[in-house]
Amino acid sequence: MILVVGGTGRLGSALVPLIKDDGEPVRIFARGASLPFPERADDGVDLLRGDLASAADCARAVEGCRKVVFAASGFGLKKDGSPRTVDRDGALQLIQAAAKARVEHLVMMSMHGAAPDGPIEFLRMKAAAENALRSSGIGWTTIRMGANLDQFLVTMSEQLPTKGRIVVFGSGQAPVTFTSTADAAELVRRVLREGSLKGQTVDWGTETHTFNELADAIHSRSPQASIQHIPLGALRLMSVAARPFSPFMARMSKAALWMNSGGAEFDIRPGRELYPDIPVVGLRQLVG
Ligand SMILES: NC(=O)c1ccc[n+]([C@@H]2O[C@H](COP(=O)([O-])OP(=O)(O)OC[C@H]3O[C@@H](n4cnc5c(N)ncnc54)[C@H](OP(=O)(O)O)[C@@H]3O)[C@@H](O)[C@H]2O)c1
Repeated sequence: MILVVGGTGRLGSALVPLIKDDGEPVRIFARGASLPFPERADDGVDLLRGDLASAADCARAVEGCRKVVFAASGFGLKKDGSPRTVDRDGALQLIQAAAKARVEHLVMMSMHGAAPDGPIEFLRMKAAAENALRSSGIGWTTIRMGANLDQFLVTMSEQLPTKGRIVVFGSGQAPVTFTSTADAAELVRRVLREGSLKGQTVDWGTETHTFNELADAIHSRSPQASIQHIPLGALRLMSVAARPFSPFMARMSKAALWMNSGGAEFDIRPGRELYPDIPVVGLRQLVG
Protein backbone atom coordinates (compact mmCIF):
# COMPACT_ATOMS: atom_id res chain seq x y z
CA MET A 1 0.00 0.00 0.00
CA ILE A 2 1.28 3.46 -0.93
CA LEU A 3 -0.02 6.45 1.02
CA VAL A 4 -0.52 9.73 -0.83
CA VAL A 5 -0.86 12.50 1.73
CA GLY A 6 -2.78 15.27 -0.01
CA GLY A 7 -4.12 12.72 -2.50
CA THR A 8 -6.97 15.05 -3.53
CA GLY A 9 -4.62 17.90 -4.47
CA ARG A 10 -3.23 18.99 -7.82
CA LEU A 11 -0.27 16.61 -7.68
CA GLY A 12 -1.89 13.95 -5.51
CA SER A 13 -4.86 13.46 -7.82
CA ALA A 14 -2.54 13.15 -10.84
CA LEU A 15 -0.34 10.64 -9.02
CA VAL A 16 -2.99 8.29 -7.61
CA PRO A 17 -4.08 6.86 -11.02
CA LEU A 18 -0.43 6.35 -12.02
CA ILE A 19 0.26 4.31 -8.89
CA LYS A 20 -2.93 2.35 -9.52
CA ASP A 21 -1.87 1.67 -13.13
CA ASP A 22 1.35 0.24 -11.76
CA GLY A 23 -0.75 -2.30 -9.86
CA GLU A 24 -0.08 -0.93 -6.36
CA PRO A 25 -2.88 -0.37 -3.87
CA VAL A 26 -3.00 3.27 -2.90
CA ARG A 27 -4.48 5.25 0.00
CA ILE A 28 -5.63 8.86 -0.33
CA PHE A 29 -5.33 10.91 2.86
CA ALA A 30 -6.79 14.43 3.09
CA ARG A 31 -9.42 16.30 5.08
CA GLY A 32 -11.88 16.95 2.26
CA ALA A 33 -11.86 20.57 3.42
CA SER A 34 -10.25 22.62 0.66
CA LEU A 35 -10.83 20.18 -2.21
CA PRO A 36 -13.59 17.66 -2.88
CA PHE A 37 -13.01 14.23 -1.38
CA PRO A 38 -13.98 11.27 -3.63
CA GLU A 39 -17.38 9.89 -2.66
CA ARG A 40 -16.57 6.32 -3.63
CA ALA A 41 -13.29 4.47 -3.73
CA ASP A 42 -12.18 2.94 -7.04
CA ASP A 43 -10.81 -0.60 -6.93
CA GLY A 44 -7.41 -0.59 -5.32
CA VAL A 45 -7.91 2.85 -3.77
CA ASP A 46 -8.42 3.32 -0.05
CA LEU A 47 -9.95 6.60 1.15
CA LEU A 48 -9.06 8.08 4.50
CA ARG A 49 -10.37 11.41 5.67
CA GLY A 50 -8.10 12.86 8.29
CA ASP A 51 -6.08 15.84 9.42
CA LEU A 52 -2.30 16.07 9.58
CA ALA A 53 -2.78 18.02 12.79
CA SER A 54 -4.00 14.83 14.48
CA ALA A 55 -1.39 12.26 15.62
CA ALA A 56 -4.13 9.59 15.65
CA ASP A 57 -5.14 10.38 12.04
CA CYS A 58 -1.50 10.24 10.92
CA ALA A 59 -1.03 6.87 12.66
CA ARG A 60 -4.13 5.50 10.88
CA ALA A 61 -2.90 6.92 7.58
CA VAL A 62 0.48 5.16 7.59
CA GLU A 63 -0.85 1.85 8.94
CA GLY A 64 0.05 -0.96 6.52
CA CYS A 65 1.91 1.38 4.11
CA ARG A 66 5.45 0.64 2.93
CA LYS A 67 5.77 3.85 0.97
CA VAL A 68 4.49 7.36 1.52
CA VAL A 69 4.37 10.53 -0.59
CA PHE A 70 3.93 13.82 1.22
CA ALA A 71 2.00 15.98 -1.27
CA ALA A 72 -0.07 18.06 1.16
CA SER A 73 0.21 21.79 1.32
CA GLY A 74 -1.14 24.70 3.31
CA PHE A 75 -0.21 27.30 0.69
CA GLY A 76 -3.63 27.10 -0.98
CA LEU A 77 -6.78 29.14 -1.19
CA LYS A 78 -8.42 28.21 2.12
CA LYS A 79 -7.69 30.17 5.27
CA ASP A 80 -7.62 27.19 7.60
CA GLY A 81 -4.07 26.06 6.84
CA SER A 82 -0.71 27.62 6.19
CA PRO A 83 2.79 26.51 5.22
CA ARG A 84 3.59 26.58 8.95
CA THR A 85 0.72 24.28 10.04
CA VAL A 86 0.70 21.90 7.06
CA ASP A 87 4.02 21.96 5.16
CA ARG A 88 6.05 22.03 8.39
CA ASP A 89 4.01 20.87 11.42
CA GLY A 90 1.83 18.46 9.44
CA ALA A 91 4.89 16.98 7.75
CA LEU A 92 6.66 16.55 11.09
CA GLN A 93 3.63 14.78 12.59
CA LEU A 94 3.39 12.49 9.57
CA ILE A 95 7.13 11.72 9.59
CA GLN A 96 6.90 10.71 13.27
CA ALA A 97 4.00 8.38 12.53
CA ALA A 98 5.82 6.92 9.50
CA ALA A 99 8.98 6.27 11.53
CA LYS A 100 6.94 4.46 14.20
CA ALA A 101 5.19 2.36 11.55
CA ARG A 102 8.57 1.52 9.97
CA VAL A 103 7.70 2.96 6.57
CA GLU A 104 10.47 2.04 4.10
CA HIS A 105 10.46 5.06 1.80
CA LEU A 106 8.98 8.53 2.17
CA VAL A 107 9.02 10.93 -0.78
CA MET A 108 8.79 14.56 0.32
CA MET A 109 7.52 17.13 -2.17
CA SER A 110 9.46 20.33 -1.61
CA MET A 111 10.50 23.37 -3.57
CA HIS A 112 13.68 24.66 -5.17
CA GLY A 113 15.16 27.22 -2.79
CA ALA A 114 14.04 25.47 0.42
CA ALA A 115 16.36 26.75 3.14
CA PRO A 116 16.08 27.70 6.83
CA ASP A 117 16.70 31.33 5.83
CA GLY A 118 14.73 31.19 2.55
CA PRO A 119 13.11 34.40 1.27
CA ILE A 120 9.51 33.19 1.72
CA GLU A 121 7.86 31.31 4.59
CA PHE A 122 6.97 28.35 2.34
CA LEU A 123 10.65 27.70 1.61
CA ARG A 124 11.58 27.92 5.30
CA MET A 125 8.80 25.49 6.26
CA LYS A 126 9.80 23.08 3.50
CA ALA A 127 13.40 23.17 4.76
CA ALA A 128 12.21 22.19 8.25
CA ALA A 129 10.24 19.25 6.84
CA GLU A 130 13.18 18.11 4.69
CA ASN A 131 15.48 18.28 7.68
CA ALA A 132 13.15 16.26 9.92
CA LEU A 133 12.83 13.58 7.25
CA ARG A 134 16.60 13.30 6.75
CA SER A 135 17.10 12.56 10.44
CA SER A 136 14.06 10.29 10.84
CA GLY A 137 15.71 6.97 10.02
CA ILE A 138 13.20 6.41 7.18
CA GLY A 139 14.47 5.86 3.63
CA TRP A 140 13.87 9.29 2.08
CA THR A 141 13.81 11.20 -1.19
CA THR A 142 13.23 14.93 -1.47
CA ILE A 143 11.90 16.30 -4.75
CA ARG A 144 12.27 20.06 -5.04
CA MET A 145 9.88 21.34 -7.68
CA GLY A 146 9.84 24.70 -9.34
CA ALA A 147 6.75 26.91 -9.20
CA ASN A 148 3.75 24.88 -10.36
CA LEU A 149 3.17 25.73 -14.03
CA ASP A 150 -0.48 24.64 -14.10
CA GLN A 151 -1.29 26.69 -11.00
CA PHE A 152 0.27 29.88 -12.42
CA LEU A 153 -1.53 29.48 -15.74
CA VAL A 154 -4.83 29.18 -13.85
CA THR A 155 -4.09 32.11 -11.52
CA MET A 156 -2.99 34.38 -14.39
CA SER A 157 -6.14 33.46 -16.36
CA GLU A 158 -8.59 33.82 -13.48
CA GLN A 159 -9.89 37.25 -14.60
CA LEU A 160 -10.22 36.24 -18.26
CA PRO A 161 -13.91 35.22 -18.18
CA THR A 162 -15.09 38.23 -16.15
CA LYS A 163 -12.71 41.07 -17.01
CA GLY A 164 -11.06 39.82 -20.18
CA ARG A 165 -7.57 40.24 -18.79
CA ILE A 166 -4.48 38.18 -18.14
CA VAL A 167 -2.63 39.11 -14.97
CA VAL A 168 1.18 39.28 -14.80
CA PHE A 169 2.82 39.58 -11.40
CA GLY A 170 5.39 42.39 -11.54
CA SER A 171 7.36 43.24 -14.67
CA GLY A 172 7.31 39.54 -15.58
CA GLN A 173 10.80 39.74 -17.09
CA ALA A 174 12.74 37.47 -14.72
CA PRO A 175 13.25 33.82 -15.67
CA VAL A 176 11.39 31.38 -13.42
CA THR A 177 11.80 27.62 -13.55
CA PHE A 178 8.40 25.94 -13.51
CA THR A 179 7.36 22.32 -12.97
CA SER A 180 4.14 20.95 -14.40
CA THR A 181 1.95 18.68 -12.33
CA ALA A 182 2.13 15.87 -14.90
CA ASP A 183 5.91 16.04 -14.96
CA ALA A 184 6.20 15.92 -11.16
CA ALA A 185 3.67 13.08 -10.88
CA GLU A 186 5.59 10.97 -13.40
CA LEU A 187 8.86 11.44 -11.50
CA VAL A 188 7.24 10.44 -8.18
CA ARG A 189 5.70 7.39 -9.84
CA ARG A 190 9.13 6.29 -11.07
CA VAL A 191 10.83 6.89 -7.72
CA LEU A 192 8.16 4.82 -5.96
CA ARG A 193 8.18 2.03 -8.53
CA GLU A 194 11.96 1.72 -8.70
CA GLY A 195 12.75 2.57 -5.07
CA SER A 196 15.31 4.96 -6.57
CA LEU A 197 16.88 8.22 -5.36
CA LYS A 198 16.95 7.08 -1.72
CA GLY A 199 18.92 9.54 0.41
CA GLN A 200 18.89 12.14 -2.39
CA THR A 201 17.48 15.60 -2.96
CA VAL A 202 16.59 16.32 -6.58
CA ASP A 203 15.67 19.63 -8.19
CA TRP A 204 12.95 18.76 -10.72
CA GLY A 205 11.99 21.39 -13.26
CA THR A 206 10.11 21.29 -16.56
CA GLU A 207 10.94 24.57 -18.31
CA THR A 208 12.19 28.06 -17.57
CA HIS A 209 9.98 30.95 -18.71
CA THR A 210 9.24 34.51 -17.74
CA PHE A 211 5.72 35.44 -16.59
CA ASN A 212 5.52 37.50 -19.80
CA GLU A 213 6.05 34.33 -21.84
CA LEU A 214 3.25 32.63 -19.91
CA ALA A 215 1.02 35.63 -20.57
CA ASP A 216 1.86 35.54 -24.30
CA ALA A 217 1.00 31.84 -24.44
CA ILE A 218 -2.39 32.46 -22.79
CA HIS A 219 -2.92 35.49 -25.03
CA SER A 220 -2.33 33.42 -28.16
CA ARG A 221 -5.45 31.41 -27.18
CA SER A 222 -7.44 34.51 -26.15
CA PRO A 223 -6.19 37.26 -28.49
CA GLN A 224 -8.98 39.65 -27.43
CA ALA A 225 -7.70 39.71 -23.84
CA SER A 226 -5.57 42.50 -22.38
CA ILE A 227 -2.44 41.87 -20.32
CA GLN A 228 -2.30 43.66 -17.00
CA HIS A 229 0.86 43.94 -14.91
CA ILE A 230 0.55 44.23 -11.14
CA PRO A 231 3.39 46.60 -10.23
CA LEU A 232 5.99 45.49 -7.70
CA GLY A 233 4.83 48.19 -5.27
CA ALA A 234 1.29 46.81 -5.34
CA LEU A 235 2.62 43.28 -4.79
CA ARG A 236 4.57 44.52 -1.75
CA LEU A 237 1.42 46.13 -0.39
CA MET A 238 -0.72 43.04 -1.08
CA SER A 239 1.83 40.73 0.56
CA VAL A 240 0.99 42.48 3.85
CA ALA A 241 -2.47 44.05 3.43
CA ALA A 242 -4.15 40.94 1.95
CA ARG A 243 -3.20 38.70 4.89
CA PRO A 244 -6.43 39.06 6.92
CA PHE A 245 -8.88 38.46 4.03
CA SER A 246 -6.83 36.35 1.61
CA PRO A 247 -3.72 34.73 3.07
CA PHE A 248 -3.36 32.97 -0.29
CA MET A 249 -3.14 36.26 -2.20
CA ALA A 250 -0.66 37.57 0.38
CA ARG A 251 1.51 34.47 -0.04
CA MET A 252 1.23 34.58 -3.85
CA SER A 253 2.29 38.25 -3.83
CA LYS A 254 5.31 37.49 -1.64
CA ALA A 255 6.24 34.52 -3.85
CA ALA A 256 5.81 36.67 -6.98
CA LEU A 257 8.17 39.30 -5.55
CA TRP A 258 10.77 36.60 -5.01
CA MET A 259 10.22 35.24 -8.52
CA ASN A 260 10.61 38.72 -10.01
CA SER A 261 13.99 38.95 -8.28
CA GLY A 262 15.32 36.07 -10.41
CA GLY A 263 15.77 33.71 -7.42
CA ALA A 264 13.35 31.08 -8.71
CA GLU A 265 15.44 29.98 -11.70
CA PHE A 266 17.51 26.80 -11.56
CA ASP A 267 19.33 24.38 -13.83
CA ILE A 268 16.94 21.54 -14.67
CA ARG A 269 19.55 19.43 -16.49
CA PRO A 270 21.06 17.42 -13.58
CA GLY A 271 17.57 16.24 -12.54
CA ARG A 272 16.33 15.52 -16.07
CA GLU A 273 19.50 13.56 -16.88
CA LEU A 274 18.50 11.05 -14.17
CA TYR A 275 15.25 10.27 -16.06
CA PRO A 276 15.77 11.34 -19.68
CA ASP A 277 12.77 9.28 -20.83
CA ILE A 278 10.21 11.18 -18.76
CA PRO A 279 8.36 13.26 -21.37
CA VAL A 280 8.33 17.02 -20.89
CA VAL A 281 4.83 18.36 -20.26
CA GLY A 282 5.41 22.08 -20.52
CA LEU A 283 3.87 25.33 -21.70
CA ARG A 284 3.23 24.13 -25.26
CA GLN A 285 1.49 20.98 -24.07
CA LEU A 286 -0.59 22.82 -21.44
CA VAL A 287 -1.62 25.86 -23.46
CA GLY A 288 -1.20 24.54 -26.99
N1 LIG B 1 2.08 24.36 -6.03
C1 LIG B 1 3.37 24.69 -6.08
O1 LIG B 1 3.78 25.69 -6.71
C2 LIG B 1 4.38 23.84 -5.35
C3 LIG B 1 5.74 24.13 -5.51
C4 LIG B 1 6.65 23.34 -4.86
C5 LIG B 1 6.24 22.31 -4.05
N2 LIG B 1 4.92 22.06 -3.88
C6 LIG B 1 4.53 20.95 -3.02
O2 LIG B 1 4.03 19.90 -3.83
C7 LIG B 1 3.02 19.18 -3.13
C8 LIG B 1 1.74 19.16 -3.97
O3 LIG B 1 1.28 20.50 -4.15
P1 LIG B 1 -0.14 20.80 -4.81
O4 LIG B 1 -0.01 22.11 -5.47
O5 LIG B 1 -0.58 19.59 -5.58
O6 LIG B 1 -1.07 20.95 -3.50
P2 LIG B 1 -2.63 21.31 -3.45
O7 LIG B 1 -3.28 21.15 -4.79
O8 LIG B 1 -2.74 22.63 -2.74
O9 LIG B 1 -3.22 20.16 -2.51
C9 LIG B 1 -2.97 20.15 -1.15
C10 LIG B 1 -3.48 18.83 -0.55
O10 LIG B 1 -3.17 18.82 0.85
C11 LIG B 1 -4.37 18.47 1.57
N3 LIG B 1 -4.28 19.03 2.91
C12 LIG B 1 -4.16 20.35 3.25
N4 LIG B 1 -4.15 20.49 4.59
C13 LIG B 1 -4.24 19.22 5.10
C14 LIG B 1 -4.28 18.70 6.42
N5 LIG B 1 -4.23 19.50 7.50
N6 LIG B 1 -4.39 17.36 6.60
C15 LIG B 1 -4.46 16.52 5.51
N7 LIG B 1 -4.41 16.96 4.23
C16 LIG B 1 -4.31 18.30 4.03
C17 LIG B 1 -5.49 19.08 0.71
O11 LIG B 1 -6.78 18.54 0.98
P3 LIG B 1 -7.71 19.14 2.17
O12 LIG B 1 -7.39 20.63 2.30
O13 LIG B 1 -9.10 18.90 1.71
O14 LIG B 1 -7.33 18.38 3.39
C18 LIG B 1 -5.01 18.65 -0.67
O15 LIG B 1 -5.29 17.29 -0.90
C19 LIG B 1 2.84 19.89 -1.80
O16 LIG B 1 3.59 19.24 -0.79
C20 LIG B 1 3.39 21.28 -2.07
O17 LIG B 1 3.85 21.92 -0.91
C21 LIG B 1 3.98 22.79 -4.54
